Amino acid sequence: MSLELVVLVSGSGSNLQAILDAIAGGALDARVRLVVSNLEGVKALARASEAGVATCVLPHKGFASRKDFDAALAEVVRGAFERPERGVVVLAGFMRILGPTFLDAFPQRVVNIHPSLLPAFPGVDAQRQAFDKGVRITGCTVHLVDAGTDTGPILAQAAVPVLDDDDRDRLAARILVQEHRLLPAVLQWLAEERLRFDTQGRPRFVGVVPAVLSPHP
Ligand code: GRF
Repeated sequence: MSLELVVLVSGSGSNLQAILDAIAGGALDARVRLVVSNLEGVKALARASEAGVATCVLPHKGFASRKDFDAALAEVVRGAFERPERGVVVLAGFMRILGPTFLDAFPQRVVNIHPSLLPAFPGVDAQRQAFDKGVRITGCTVHLVDAGTDTGPILAQAAVPVLDDDDRDRLAARILVQEHRLLPAVLQWLAEERLRFDTQGRPRFVGVVPAVLSPHP
């Protein structure tokens, strides 16, 4: 049975596009029920409309507190799922921290894509952080979201080498290529109900061959 997705965005939406393309191409068994942005006029909203996906703008500035915003967002997301047990919330460039008011409404069902090999370089502009630090390998991570900043259980990662003639933007562009492979792949594993938790509570996907996520320059 298909996964139901609500995708939260704040910007360009290239990861949203990767999800939409994977669905259209038959690589991802899912439907995007709704795209929610906290900012008006971002490219991600145009991408959603172009694909015939419903959109909603919920400006965080209109709320007195983070908790109020989280509660309103949870309400919007809840209303978008037809079968909540098949629902997954995807943070794809969503630039707000979500607290327990939101996360407790969707336990283990909120995933984020982050442009570094976590736990290295959490937070804003991870590509800049990695570049400035001089690491030779960075990458991207898909993880379950908890109340910390990019601290939730890691689902999957893809590595990206830092090349001698890189700058921050060239590196970021090559990381994005891997993000666009990794995120739809992980969502498909969720659609196939492959996610388990080992005895220490770490997520594991049964039957997934990790070689598909090996580094690509
Ligand atoms: C990506 O690098 C993602 O990892 C980070 O924000 C960026 C969003 O890009 N969380 P886009 O909006 O999907 O193009």
